[in-house]
Order: sequence, then C-alpha cells, then structure tokens
Amino acid sequence: MKFKKNGAILCCLSAILFIAACENQESVEFKRYYSNGSLIYQQHCQNCHGTNGEGLSALIPPLTDSVYLKNNRNSLACYIRNGLKGKITLDGKEFDDAMPANNLAPMEAAEVITYIQNSFGNKLGLTTIDQAESDLEKCK
Ligand code: HEC
Repeated sequence: MKFKKNGAILCCLSAILFIAACENQESVEFKRYYSNGSLIYQQHCQNCHGTNGEGLSALIPPLTDSVYLKNNRNSLACYIRNGLKGKITLDGKEFDDAMPANNLAPMEAAEVITYIQNSFGNKLGLTTIDQAESDLEKCK
C-alpha cells in the first residue's frame, strides 16, 4: 500500500518535472526568436513603423492593433516578403500606402513576426520557422 502511494507521488513528481522542462525549453526558444527579431525590427522596420510600433500619422499603420495582427497572422510572412499595398483598416482608420518587399530569410521573418506579435502591447506568442515556411508557400 505504502509502495503504491510512493509510486504515485513519484509519478506525479516526474510528470511535473517533465512539464517544467518542456516549458523552459519553449521559453528559451521564445527568447531567442524575440531578441533576434528585435534586431531585425531595428534594421528593417523601425524607420517606418517607429520605435514603439506607433506608425506615422496617416501614412504608415501602427503595429499595435492586436486584432489585425491576429486576423492576418498567417499572412504576415507574405506581407514582409512581398510587401503590401491597397487599402487596409486598423482600429477604424484607413491606410492606403505601400510597404516595399523585404528580402528576409524565413527564419528572420519568423523572428521579426514573433517580435512584433509580442511588443507594443501585443501578446500573440511565437511564430516558428516551420510556421513561417508554410505561410510563405501560400503567398498569393
Ligand atoms: C518603407 C516603409 C516600411 C517599411 C520599411 C516596413 N513597412 Fe510595414 N507597412 C508599411 C506601410 C505603408 C504599410 C501599409 C500598406 C497598405 O496600406 O496596404 C505597412 C503594413 C504593415 C503591416 C500590416 C498592417 C499593420 O500595421 O499591422 C505589418 C504587419 C507590417 N507592415 C510589418 C512590417 C515589418 C515586420 C517590417 C520589417 C520587416 C515592415 N513592416 C517594414 C511601411 C513599411
């Protein structure tokens, strides 16, 4: 009886340790994407979208609209690679300018997407290289 109880406790403990280890690995991965993404943002995006993702008046949209980012999550890699033009609406405001194509590798796209998705008040989690690659295959 005692053995069974101990066994159950041991089993629970190892399950908890296992989950903790997984979470840790995930958060290390997240931090790596996020900090690389921050550098890419400074080099390739900040000039237009601003230090705090605030955009520029009526010309360049901000990156603070979590709803827009979430709804277009699987298109962001294509927007970055091929640029974006045409009318878009964020937070009730219309923008109709053009973003030039950015020649980033899929890994860099995943990193910068992870960065913007988790900066400027957004909390939308990790976009992995696998996700970015599969999104890029579907660019129109
Ligand atoms: C030369 C200026 C410029 C640069 C550089 C630029 N963008 Fe943009 N971006 C724009 C404009 C203008 C739009 C709106 C296009 C439209 O109206 O259709 C836009 C739209 C977007 C959107 C969709 C709308 C929104 O605000 O959420 C995202 C996401 C985005 N850009 C991310 C990026 C990222 C990430 C980078 C860097 C890899 C980047 N942009 C570099 C000008 C720029």
